[in-house]
Amino acid sequence: MKVIVVKSDVEGGKEGYNVFAEEKKNGAKTFGLATGSTPVTTYKEIVASDLDFTDSVSVNLDEYVGMSADNEQSYNYFMKSHLFDYKPFKTSYLPNGLAEDSDAEVKRYDKVIDDNPIDLQILGIGRNGHIGFNEPGTPRDITTHKVPLTQSTIDANARFFEHEEDVPKFAYSMGLASIMKSKHILLEAFGEDKADAVKGMIEGPDTVDLPASILQNHPNVTVIIDEAAASKLE
Ligand code: F6R
Repeated sequence: MKVIVVKSDVEGGKEGYNVFAEEKKNGAKTFGLATGSTPVTTYKEIVASDLDFTDSVSVNLDEYVGMSADNEQSYNYFMKSHLFDYKPFKTSYLPNGLAEDSDAEVKRYDKVIDDNPIDLQILGIGRNGHIGFNEPGTPRDITTHKVPLTQSTIDANARFFEHEEDVPKFAYSMGLASIMKSKHILLEAFGEDKADAVKGMIEGPDTVDLPASILQNHPNVTVIIDEAAASKLE
């Protein structure tokens, strides 16, 4: 793993942008994308740049089950408002939250990933070391799957919804095996609350209890972290 320590998430965004720009210059065509607060500074740098993705493909990590693309809480909506409205891709794939048949949707998304091998995958990391919605204990050979959300995630999301029954209970997520197929993985983490997960990912045992530690087995990983997220490293 190549570890780059920066002062802040803003500086991290500039480094993250550099990784995208370099990969693009080297011919990368397919970009795996993430939502959440972590990649926002990188997306801002991309939006402010002259990088052009109209010949590129994007494949997102995950989406809530039951949520339409125009719902403001959907990952689809997040990607539009943070990146795609400004930097359109030739084709952008996300799991379809409204798919009627989950098994078919999971298979469809696996085929999307097989047909569009990811050159660069950007990831955030959860405080418990999750990547995508692959929570601790997730088998490592898993590809796209439908994941029950933890009660704490459901509770945290409840404030965004008027009716409790609208709060998503499941998500579709790329699996750990899908993520590991990417040629280059860029993992970003900012803030002290990520320090334990970052330490486990880089220095801890390679274990299913900390899903991101699987990245120790990948030949091309770049980690961009701020000093707070790096604070527990030896
Ligand atoms: C997002 C995703 C998640 C987040 C992780 C960190 O598509 O799959 O694994 O990367 O939960 O979230 P933030 O960046 O909000 O701290």
